[in-house]
Amino acid sequence: MQKTKEESKKLFIQTLGCQMNDTDSAHIIAELGEHNNYTTTDTMEDADLIIINTCSVREKPVQKLFSEIGQFNSKKKEGAKIGVCGCTASHLGKDIIKRAPYVDFVLGARNISKISKIIDQKGAVEIDIEHDDSTYEFARSETSLYKTSVNISIGCDKECTYCIVPATRGDEISIPPEMIIEQIKKDVLKGAIEVTLLGQNVNSYGRKFSDGRGKTTFTQLLHDISKIEGIERIRFTSPHPLHMDDEFIEEFARNPKISKCIHMPLQSGSTKILKAMKRGYSKEWFLNRAAKIRELVPEVRITTDIIVAFPGETQEDFDDTIDVINQVKFDQIFNFKYSPRPNTAALELKDQEIPDEIGSARLIQVIDLHKEHQSEHMRSNIGKTVKVLFESLKPNGEVSGFTDNWCQVYVKGSDELLGKIAEVKITSSTRTTLKGELVN
Ligand code: SAH
Ligand code: SF4
Ligand code: F3S
Repeated sequence: MQKTKEESKKLFIQTLGCQMNDTDSAHIIAELGEHNNYTTTDTMEDADLIIINTCSVREKPVQKLFSEIGQFNSKKKEGAKIGVCGCTASHLGKDIIKRAPYVDFVLGARNISKISKIIDQKGAVEIDIEHDDSTYEFARSETSLYKTSVNISIGCDKECTYCIVPATRGDEISIPPEMIIEQIKKDVLKGAIEVTLLGQNVNSYGRKFSDGRGKTTFTQLLHDISKIEGIERIRFTSPHPLHMDDEFIEEFARNPKISKCIHMPLQSGSTKILKAMKRGYSKEWFLNRAAKIRELVPEVRITTDIIVAFPGETQEDFDDTIDVINQVKFDQIFNFKYSPRPNTAALELKDQEIPDEIGSARLIQVIDLHKEHQSEHMRSNIGKTVKVLFESLKPNGEVSGFTDNWCQVYVKGSDELLGKIAEVKITSSTRTTLKGELVN
């Protein structure tokens, strides 16, 4: 029976971390909407249920978690429940309730499908790392979006020595291709024209399914998704440089529906450090793959993740990272200072840890160099005509959208542009955005 709006309960949800957590939060909202009559609120004090969907990848957000839930507890409405979900829930488990007894439940990142049941179980802790959500059909929210995101795998089978994710999200299992395609088709009917495929390691897709079926590849999946009528643009994150074989790069270059922006998480430019990180590739392999991509797709934008001050990183190793940055001239760098994490192999390198002030100086050097490259890249767009998918109207009468290679562009226009792809001549740039005029 349909309940009236007045009866609906309020959910406040705060999401930290990566795009997989964003999708998990969207699943939580949709599941609780469909099965438990919750609608979302932006005001924590109004909420009947407060959920914090956490990230563990670095130490800082974990430290912040406890002060934040303490705040929530002191300000929440009487009787409101508090739940901790996500990666920190996976790795701290029942310790969260020990430390903060007012937390009502803890739900690990691999267990999101259990949300509807757990909200009524005071003290419940569901963090089973073997749990398999890969064939669970999550409810989807009803909002019509030009963009949609779909998980294509859960977990991660790599053993990068600094990374806590395999311990919080468990082994990698691929979601069956027919489920992914069905989901995208449904989202197209609601207005989606762009899809982002999500996984910790998207281009190792298809090696293991929970029903034991035969293998397939990410390249094949990309090919099949591009056949869906109504999908104009396909994006994906994160691919792993190790699995960027020629077949994959050629599909990326050839398939006009694939957005020409690629994330190539370098982590370090030093082959010695890459080995200590267990990344599986060398500096030369990375440079060779980046060069091949640029050769086949001259307009490509390449983004990356870099960790500075991994244990044992000498000045010479860091210089290799700077060398790769200078050669590839990334369009966007997400920089991090190494943060020691529980359940990771790099903890054994404790005696080689780099003093914090050296780490901070290296981080600043990367940021400054990157800013120069960013400005250079953005300026090179002036005078070009690009295709933009418009998606939001700004209060100043400008409409913003993204090019196929993922530059943000602003033009004067109206909401009639929303959800449409139009040609724009670029007239000016800042370090991170472009401005232009519509070409009629
Ligand atoms: N699966 C993705 C990464 C997910 S974590 C990939 O392989 O690209 C996102 C980023 O956080 C990583 O790419 C890495 O740069 C950073 N990161 C992970 N663990 C870290 C740690 N212990 N210290 C600092 N940065 C870390
Ligand atoms: Fe972490 Fe490496 Fe897996 Fe990425 S590929 S999630 S960095 S273990
Ligand atoms: Fe953080 Fe978990 Fe994503 S640790 S980066 S939310 S996979």
